[in-house]
Amino acid sequence: MSFPKNFLWGGATAANQYEGGYLDGNKGLACSDTITDGDAKTPRRIMIELANGERKFISRFEDVPAGAKAVIDENTYYPSHVATDFYHHYQEDIALLAEMGFKTFRMSINWTRIFPNGDDKEPNEDGLAFYDAVFDECHKYGIEPLVTIAHFDMPLNLAIKYEGWLSRKTVTFFENYCRAIFERYRDKVKYWLTFNEINFLRDYSTLGITEASNYAKQQQAIYHVLLAGAKAVILGHQINPEFKIGLMVANILFYPETCNPQDSLKLQEVERNFKDFYYDVQCRGFYPEYKLAEMKRHDFKLVTKTEDAVILKEGTVDFISFSYYNSAVVSTREDATKTGGNQLAAVKNPYLEESEWGWPIDPTGLRLCLNRLYDKYRLPLMIVENGLGALDKIEEDGSINDDYRIDYLRKHIVEMKKAVEEDGVELLGYTPWGCIDLVSAGTGEMKKRYGFVYVNMDDKGNGTLKRLRKKSFYWYQQVISSNGENLD
Ligand code: BG6
Repeated sequence: MSFPKNFLWGGATAANQYEGGYLDGNKGLACSDTITDGDAKTPRRIMIELANGERKFISRFEDVPAGAKAVIDENTYYPSHVATDFYHHYQEDIALLAEMGFKTFRMSINWTRIFPNGDDKEPNEDGLAFYDAVFDECHKYGIEPLVTIAHFDMPLNLAIKYEGWLSRKTVTFFENYCRAIFERYRDKVKYWLTFNEINFLRDYSTLGITEASNYAKQQQAIYHVLLAGAKAVILGHQINPEFKIGLMVANILFYPETCNPQDSLKLQEVERNFKDFYYDVQCRGFYPEYKLAEMKRHDFKLVTKTEDAVILKEGTVDFISFSYYNSAVVSTREDATKTGGNQLAAVKNPYLEESEWGWPIDPTGLRLCLNRLYDKYRLPLMIVENGLGALDKIEEDGSINDDYRIDYLRKHIVEMKKAVEEDGVELLGYTPWGCIDLVSAGTGEMKKRYGFVYVNMDDKGNGTLKRLRKKSFYWYQQVISSNGENLD
């Protein structure tokens, strides 16, 4: 056994980090358009306007005071506005992906390109036409689009008017959005992902809620997101029974720090809270008992409708997709040394090396994740994000020798191969993150690069946007042409 012949090799991007053209073609504003740049030490911020008209910056994850709304500050740099400008470079970029031999290309649709305010009656034709052109370009090269419907995407107007996902109305607005894109791209897109890293939706910029710290608001908003995801699956299958619609979770692998049973108990709690809940609902179609018990402990009752149980049950996904960058250690020790990771600081693992941004590197963890998920849910899997955020240097001759990136990816592909060949996991595809350089979601930096293709742009939006092939470009080309056999 080896990788199947039709294995989907590719790469992944997201509109708010890659597309730019933030007002072109009548696009409306998304919350992500109001997030400033930042760096490893300075958190990204949003400018809010208080009810009395006063303006001030708050950190992205902070609660937004009642009556306040996010606004664009003319004197501030916002990385999503131009990003790496896929909007004006899509032909060139897709040609580069085709040159690497991509079988699939993961991208997201900007919700506000289709419904500029989120609650509009009719979709925006300019936006629909843009993605028509993108998908046609992919098909020209035999590349299968893999489309995320919402990648950290919340129309600003929905956040301001309805408090985003807190309102059940947003479920209907999302359904309208899904209907518009499912009907329009019925014959152009087969693989869909509902919500990117659904387990990381938690604040104003992703859920549209003002009090990210409020348990009741969080839970009600997430319930609406899960319900909307289930509705999307049902609707998608009605529009085209051939659609394959998957979930997407940030899949950090957790280890207990010691064999102390208390560490394992803590591990179970973290795993359930952080990821299992999201898999369980979307794969099994109901809220698990541990979640119901947790809500009871908080004296919180979800507001639901009678038909919801059937929707959740009938709207389970066709496949599981996930991101995997690093593992993390869980400990009951208060004084344990902390380290970084994908949006989650955890305890340092002495057995693992870390990236320049302090994310532990753990290829074996990927094999463990694949096995755990396949054993538990028996659904086909797709790894839709993986990769190394690193500083790249352009040599005098224009080359970029990113051997560190090749090394990271090679080691992960080796483990992925073992999961397929030795463990029998059903894996549909692999799309490493940021295949063409794009803005970092966590820090807002450009210098934290993941791509096979370098884009000339700096942290403050200065650059020619010229594309350059890195050493990893040629390496990945050979990985794909050998269907994962030649990893040297
Ligand atoms: C995931 C997201 O969390 O990780 C991406 O889905 C993000 O949007 C990626 O870019 C890498 O994280 P970062 O913070 O390095 O951009």
